[in-house]
Amino acid sequence: MGFIEDINTAAEIILDAHAITLVSHIDADGITSEAIAAQAISRLGIPVTPIFIRQLEPLTMKHVPNDDTLKVFTDLGAGQQNLMEEAGLPSDRILILDHHINQPAPGGTVYTQVNSRFYGPEYAKCSAAGVAYMLARKLDTANADLAELAVIGNVGDMMARESCGLCGIARGIAEDGMKTGHIHITKGLNCYGLSTRPLHLCLANSDDPILPGISGNPKAAADLLLRIGIYKKSSDQRVWEELDAAEAKHLASVVAEQLIANGESTERLFAEHYFFPHEPARSPLRNASEYATMLNACGRWANPKIGEAICFGDRGQRYREAEHMLRQHRSIIRELYEYILNTGVADAGSLQWIHTGDAYPDTIVGIGAGMALSKLNPAKPIMVLCCVADEPDMVKVSMRTNERVLRRGVDLQTALVAAAAEFGGGGGGHNIAAGAYIPKGCEDDFIRRVNELIAGQLETGAPHR
Ligand code: C5P
Ligand code: C5P
Repeated sequence: MGFIEDINTAAEIILDAHAITLVSHIDADGITSEAIAAQAISRLGIPVTPIFIRQLEPLTMKHVPNDDTLKVFTDLGAGQQNLMEEAGLPSDRILILDHHINQPAPGGTVYTQVNSRFYGPEYAKCSAAGVAYMLARKLDTANADLAELAVIGNVGDMMARESCGLCGIARGIAEDGMKTGHIHITKGLNCYGLSTRPLHLCLANSDDPILPGISGNPKAAADLLLRIGIYKKSSDQRVWEELDAAEAKHLASVVAEQLIANGESTERLFAEHYFFPHEPARSPLRNASEYATMLNACGRWANPKIGEAICFGDRGQRYREAEHMLRQHRSIIRELYEYILNTGVADAGSLQWIHTGDAYPDTIVGIGAGMALSKLNPAKPIMVLCCVADEPDMVKVSMRTNERVLRRGVDLQTALVAAAAEFGGGGGGHNIAAGAYIPKGCEDDFIRRVNELIAGQLETGAPHR
């Protein structure tokens, strides 16, 4: 069936429910999906109970009650239908809103699912928050006020990365937000931190594209800004959002010239950005990518409810707690990133890997892996293994790669799902970013096996999905 039909079916299921349990993931896309669905459902007067889960796996399934409420899974579930079936959850009490790769239940139970992977390219780059938003809008057009949350979820899950902007249905959602005045869509440098980071740090942190002489060198970036008059003194702290149109244009042309002079492409120099004009200037909630980081900071440090409160509009006590989480998140992610680079990774042939032991929580190692990859060998996927604090018999695996490697036939999700199953674990995710839990003790064999599978994918060179 098509997307519209599936959304209609999902809306009917919601409208029929007397009470709903929302089960969602702890990252920015999971928290925004939950916040969209919870608001849309409670606006209908249906009682809703939220549950956030780090990952659906055998040990966390116990948090999903087998009661008579409708269970709506957001940003997880597509890859774990086997667990739902094993737990005896009947298909008429489950609705999955997801964008992860679908793995049908082995016993044949068919769960109702709206998954943006099912409907072709127009829908493919839409995260779970986008699916939740489309359902919310079907339930009531007044829910268009939730578009901002859907954009944050999409941007948080990197849906804007490949094309330097949202596309397809996710772009349409951003336009909904523009129409209601909640979202300002604009083009700017393809950098992170346009609302809060002093411009020289913003430029120095750019790695897509690498800015010759500037990336990795805040002093050179500050000197450039002084030279072109955007900084008046080297201690200036202006942010990109504070530049007027002429200054932004001038800076862009100087940086573009520098790329061209070094024989580099300017193709990825600009990206579309999504600003929220009603949030205070210089706030981390002022644009979609920084807002997503704040939600990740809450969720990945076991406080998704704080992130949920921010999405519901809390700017008081919970917001101050979120600011604290964000500071901690930033400093530990940076520490992890430096740890990976300083310790170095082992080369297994077709992938590179590192075991971080119990130094960092399993919920953040994937983010560190993604950040470190651009400074390592970007041609080889990175695997980070780590201990799981509350499950000493398990090891968490996170893998990341990039579009160029995908084009050579690599698919991390397929490799991790297959290898994890062979070792009695479970995995899932996307071709570009995937994860797994495996039993402790089999790490070396597991690395060898994933390496073998990736080598096989490279040999076949099949185009990615
Ligand atoms: O899909 P899920 O939310 O569970 O994945 C979260 C992680 O995967 C994030 O760290 C995100 O950056 C990464 N990811 C990615 N590219 C995608 C989808 C997810 O890097 N296309
Ligand atoms: O945890 P991490 O950020 O590395 O996860 C990357 C992707 O793999 C996410 O989309 C996550 O939902 C998925 N994943 C999964 N099963 C696991 C671990 C991660 O589907 N056991």
